[in-house]
Amino acid sequence: MGLPEERGRGGSGSGGREEAGARSRPRSWSPPPELSRSAHVSSLQRYRELHRVSVEEPREFWGDIAKEFYWKTPCPGPFLKYNFDVTKGKIFIEWMKGATTNICYNVLDRIVHEKKLGDKIAFYWEGNEPEETTQITYHELLVQVCQFSNVLRKQGIRKGDRVAIYMPMIPKLVVAMLACARLGALHSIVISWNEGVDLWWHELIHEAEDVCEPEWCDAEDPLFILYTSGSTGKPKGVVHTVGGYMLYVATTFKYVFDFHAEDVFWCTADIGWITGHSYVTYGPMANGATSVLFEGIPTYPDVSRMWSIVDKYKVTKFYTAPTAIRLLMKFGDKPVTKHSRASLQVLGTVGEPINPEAWLWYYQVVGAQRCPIVDTFWQTETGGHMLTPLPGATPMKPGSATFPFFGVAPAILNESGEELEGEAEGYLVFKQPWPGIMRTVYGDHERFETTYFKKFPGYYVTGDGCRRDQDGYYWITGRIDDMLNVSGHLLSTAEVESALVEHKAIAEAAVVSHPHPVKGECLYCFVTLCDGYTFSSTLTEELKKQIREKIGPIATPDYIQNAPSLPKTRSGKIMRRVLRKIAQNDHDLGDTSTVADPSVISQLFSHRCLTIQ
Ligand code: WT7
Repeated sequence: MGLPEERGRGGSGSGGREEAGARSRPRSWSPPPELSRSAHVSSLQRYRELHRVSVEEPREFWGDIAKEFYWKTPCPGPFLKYNFDVTKGKIFIEWMKGATTNICYNVLDRIVHEKKLGDKIAFYWEGNEPEETTQITYHELLVQVCQFSNVLRKQGIRKGDRVAIYMPMIPKLVVAMLACARLGALHSIVISWNEGVDLWWHELIHEAEDVCEPEWCDAEDPLFILYTSGSTGKPKGVVHTVGGYMLYVATTFKYVFDFHAEDVFWCTADIGWITGHSYVTYGPMANGATSVLFEGIPTYPDVSRMWSIVDKYKVTKFYTAPTAIRLLMKFGDKPVTKHSRASLQVLGTVGEPINPEAWLWYYQVVGAQRCPIVDTFWQTETGGHMLTPLPGATPMKPGSATFPFFGVAPAILNESGEELEGEAEGYLVFKQPWPGIMRTVYGDHERFETTYFKKFPGYYVTGDGCRRDQDGYYWITGRIDDMLNVSGHLLSTAEVESALVEHKAIAEAAVVSHPHPVKGECLYCFVTLCDGYTFSSTLTEELKKQIREKIGPIATPDYIQNAPSLPKTRSGKIMRRVLRKIAQNDHDLGDTSTVADPSVISQLFSHRCLTIQ
């Protein structure tokens, strides 16, 4: 089966064209020829060749890439060893085990001394006030990281220790992360301050020495822990390791954003999330890139802030989330088009499926049809991009993350675990390890195996549904378990439900996802009250506050409905499928023969929330 025709309208850019019989074939957009000419990968054919080699010979492919980095001692044994099959024993993944290196050394000392980029700006920083700005070079960063490493050493921090960091989006946060990495200590970025344990930076930094020998780490030593929601409600500590993560984020950054030395890169993600770890700190710095670090919000002082920053720093590659695109889209084209944006070359998105409407606005208005969109599908667990276009090579289809990155071997399975070929829909899994895959759940290896490897032995299970179209393009259809994705952040319904029932007035709660024009999905909560309590706005405010405190502001429900009782199966399982329909006032409920008490349903329809609370 061939690819959709690559077509351009010539001149300033390439445009899509509705095909005759467009029902089966969505439009596609080819990469702009100007960009393809100088791109690292400049055609689909070249991508396919490289991809084939990377999957068939992963050791050679990644071995070559590893040569770009500094290793204190080389890999003594097998470059890759792993077991993905629970029926054959413990799940493990080891890349370059026994080789020693230091990721901080590789993203700073190597860039300053070997690449001679000490005077290059690593970060342009801008605060919420547009005039609040500063910049920092690679050399200055190296000095600050060494100083802070010495401070940490003095505090008794040693290799393998865990350091929690609580800081805003400022260059010093990058310094703190890298200082931990320099000492081989694991960093974990948190949202709360711990009185009595935590220490103030300014009280520690004076007179610290600006030279600090890095701690040489095994490639398989842990680098950091990041917590993500789990479907059972308890957050999982995702553990990434030094060597594989370094290769993977550096390589994905280089190819997916088609990085060149003169680029100015801007990833809007918070450093505390995986996107920030991989594409604010480690990926760009491993390539010696210049990035923008923005601490403010996209709507202050007005809704054109993002584009004024793009013009100010001449941003060439811009990476954000669909939720931000939808938010800005609401204000129309004017705030965008009043800025030049002429520097922009590639636009990226991450976090959730991007709806074609938002994709088109991003492509046509923000990028003026000049800039390819890289719709990157990946997870905290994967460390870096998994399915993504390459901007100089891949014809794009709005809403599709297109094809696998190098070293990534996807498959679509049906419920019985059979691989489906050609056009198909089912569970998205990966058949072999890539260097950036997480190695374990912190303190709970069994949970790692159960969550990702038990359902289909021999595969890493993403938990996402996926469709492959007739051209081989992958389309993520969303989470298949009881998770929801609010503004690009995964939340488990179980986690929110447990926070609700912790309130003394709440007997039972069921949370479902509900479409939201900006956030993608939002939370619609059904609560059954304990006897003696009445439903009121005071109560809903208390519940929201409780969720904000227990989980975070992102989990704040948009709707809370009083549910005197919930639709359940005879075996007592809450029927979330029915609740989703009620929330949307959709009376087409399908088969309701298993509902224990059908009168519950009409009662809930009549109590629906009509407005956002
Ligand atoms: C889940 C992972 C990866 C950093 C941000 C989120 C969804 C992510 C896409 C995309 C469709 C996407 C998936 C995935 N997702 N990117 N481009 N298209 N879905 O990290 O919190 O670990 O969430 O986000 O459902 O499993 P995360």
